[in-house]
Amino acid sequence: MKNTPSKFGKTPHQPSLWTRADALKVRADDPTTTQPLVSANFPVLSDEVFIWDTMPLRDIDGNITSVDGWSVIFTLTADRHPNDPQYLDQNGNYDVIRDWNDRHGRAKMYYWFSRTGKDWKLGGRVMAEGVSPTVREWAGTPILLNKQGEVDLYYTAVTPGATIVKVRGRVVTTEHGVSLVGFEKVKPLFEADGKMYQTEAQNAFWGFRDPWPFRDPKDGKLYMLFEGNVAGERGSHKVGNAEIGDVPPGYEEVGNSRFQTACVGIAVARDEDGDDWEMLPPLLTAVGVNDQTERPHFVFQDGKYYLFTISHTFTYADGVTGPDGVYGFVADSLFGPYVPLNGSGLVLGNPSSQPFQTYSHCVMPNGLVTSFIDSVPTDNTGTQIRIGGTEAPTVGIKIKGQQTFVVAEYDYGYIPPMLDVTLK
Ligand code: FRU
Repeated sequence: MKNTPSKFGKTPHQPSLWTRADALKVRADDPTTTQPLVSANFPVLSDEVFIWDTMPLRDIDGNITSVDGWSVIFTLTADRHPNDPQYLDQNGNYDVIRDWNDRHGRAKMYYWFSRTGKDWKLGGRVMAEGVSPTVREWAGTPILLNKQGEVDLYYTAVTPGATIVKVRGRVVTTEHGVSLVGFEKVKPLFEADGKMYQTEAQNAFWGFRDPWPFRDPKDGKLYMLFEGNVAGERGSHKVGNAEIGDVPPGYEEVGNSRFQTACVGIAVARDEDGDDWEMLPPLLTAVGVNDQTERPHFVFQDGKYYLFTISHTFTYADGVTGPDGVYGFVADSLFGPYVPLNGSGLVLGNPSSQPFQTYSHCVMPNGLVTSFIDSVPTDNTGTQIRIGGTEAPTVGIKIKGQQTFVVAEYDYGYIPPMLDVTLK
């Protein structure tokens, strides 16, 4: 990155805090913030591959965009290995759970297309083998740039390290389908700095990933959200009064919650093309509350900034908990202050009877929420499960002021376009 001074001069804002007091308000199984049960009889997109994080093609303002009537989604994808001796158990049966749990290490970016916003057809890999500089191609955002069909794919190049990168290519349509061409030169943008965002050297379990670029509807500048952890050596963070918030007597004890240090990061572009970025202090921190605020993204509605991020039960700190799902915060201006939606932050969580049924929710500006199926119990005890690796039923939510409500359920993987671009 060039060493030019910040356009903002000094620190432009204080991060907003998701406090332990906020998280104490999380209620699993509240019907207004709980995803309907996913049936164990779900259809799968493909018997050849698992898919998980789903990234619909969109414009820089966040609108889900089809091209020449074709919807396009990008997915993190990994081969299924039903016949690989490495994934057979002692009885010679395919150990699909182990195969699924190993997927992150071989994640690659694939794309799919559809005429109907569902019933996705596999297009293939976005980048040929050898193009991406690291082993893992982790989540990000594809942005349609113009009527020539140019697409900037921002994503995370992981192992070794974790670098926010972008690669430019083009979407080409015919009557019969969609292909992606180009996507041959990956440009590294930035990595964690150790001052605002935690590095691997500071914490082997650090997170730095999931870029989501956007244009601020108010100031018109180009920014990017991403997932991070607050800088500092693992174990050195303080969980003080600010992080604890206004808790009832008896809830002051924070245990080992100093190890949970998630934040939502933000960077500003120094150029119009988004090739030169400057990291700014986090928008939101969850020190003492949760260790992961993944895939942060915005919905801009009613002049407000609705910030959504996904998180897990297992990443909560001592003394606080909540379901796997999507959490949200709202502010009147980009740099906050942000307050948790529904008091707690929880927007759409898994029901406690099926705690891993879905994950990686993406709230779209039309109120539709897409996610993938992780695993669904197939018996009453929850010991038998069926692995998903496919699209979950889409859920509709209504966003009203500082509250959200589940209001609808749609078909598996239903991601309808909000606008269509006719390519030149
Ligand atoms: C969310 C996530 C992302 C990451 C990817 C890795 O499901 O953890 O944060 O980019 O999955 O597979």
